[in-house]
Amino acid sequence: MEYEVRTEGEQATEDLGEALGRRLFPGAVILLNGEMGAGKTVFARGVGRGLGVNVPIQSPTFSLLNAHSGRLPFYHFDLYRLNSEEELFELGLDEALDGEGVSLVEWAGKFADYFTMPALVIWITSDGSTGRQILFWAKTEPYQAILRELTTGGQVSANPGN
Ligand SMILES: Nc1ncnc2c1ncn2[C@@H]1O[C@H](COP(=O)(O)OP(=O)(O)O)[C@@H](O)[C@H]1O
Ligand SMILES: [Mg+2]
Repeated sequence: MEYEVRTEGEQATEDLGEALGRRLFPGAVILLNGEMGAGKTVFARGVGRGLGVNVPIQSPTFSLLNAHSGRLPFYHFDLYRLNSEEELFELGLDEALDGEGVSLVEWAGKFADYFTMPALVIWITSDGSTGRQILFWAKTEPYQAILRELTTGGQVSANPGN
């Protein structure tokens, strides 16, 4: 199931992240893709807000992992600077994914072979200076149910076989 929505401006992207964050459950995995500057961290900040994380979320690009505690633990990863799967394990990604918190991973597509677990996959692409196309893709429940809830005002397509 796919859901595509366009946001105009940073705030709209953060609000969309927040709407998602409010609906996430223990163990949820969010895989975020898109070029540098697409808005992944802006979206992640919104997810954190939806989870009740009230510390402003910095980009973890330099720390690779920021852990926060809200309604659920929130593990925010950024794999941009990571070069090998070995480093993934050193980061504690396995523990986060298996835990009761929400794991959100920027640049997950760099390690597509590793991220085969059920997840909500998101691609953000730039569409002008303040426009962004945000594509959500969910293959399994309960992620599909969450997408159905988010669809107000957007376009949904159900792709047989996906
Ligand atoms: N619609 C939008 N959604 C998100 N960010 C936007 C949007 N329009 C402009 N921006 C800007 O794009 C940048 C996105 O930065 P960031 O979230 O750090 O990107 P990434 O984490 O993908 O590298 C910010 O400077 C933000 O203000
Ligand atoms: Mg980022």
